[in-house]
Amino acid sequence: VSALPEGYTIRPLQRADYGLGFLDVLRVLTHVGDVAQKEFEQRFDEMKAGGGGYHILVIMDGEQKIVGTGALIVERKFIHQLGKVGHIEDIAVAKDQQGKKLGLRIIQALDYVAEGTGCYKTILDCSEANEGFYVKCGFKRAGLEMAHYY
Ligand code: ACO
Repeated sequence: VSALPEGYTIRPLQRADYGLGFLDVLRVLTHVGDVAQKEFEQRFDEMKAGGGGYHILVIMDGEQKIVGTGALIVERKFIHQLGKVGHIEDIAVAKDQQGKKLGLRIIQALDYVAEGTGCYKTILDCSEANEGFYVKCGFKRAGLEMAHYY
């Protein structure tokens, strides 16, 4: 994984990160809603339980504010000789921090985790507008997304 800008760091999301701007970064991506600290911590604990599989990374700027995030969910399968598939989800970089290769670094780091945990591939869904970004990250168009909303 290549270098981040001077002073920036990348690390797993922590239970104590509620106040550091994590949910605000996700608001760049989509509707987040009102999530209280207790609810954040409860969801964090749920993700930690059950043998892992959730790998959420955050990028911090020099002031220890969260400015980027991304998640890898490792899905365990019976097919492909008990294979594992990585799912990249919820990639977001704060508006004023875009264009500094932070998104690319997040994807590279998640790819590294996916390969290290034995995934034979990593997949994601994105809009047409983001296709170019993921192509630059080494992904290629494959398949078709279907959804059923409740
Ligand atoms: N279309 C084409 N190329 C792009 C795009 C785009 N939408 N966005 C970035 N790139 C290019 C950059 O120009 C750069 O190219 P270069 O290496 O030739 O200079 C390369 O991709 C890497 O770009 P980064 O600087 O790493 O991108 P950034 O840090 O701005 O992050 C991101 C990109 C995550 C898409 C950001 O713009 C963002 O947060 N957008 C809003 C939320 C969002 O749409 N997230 C993705 C949802 S899909 C999912 O989560 C699976």
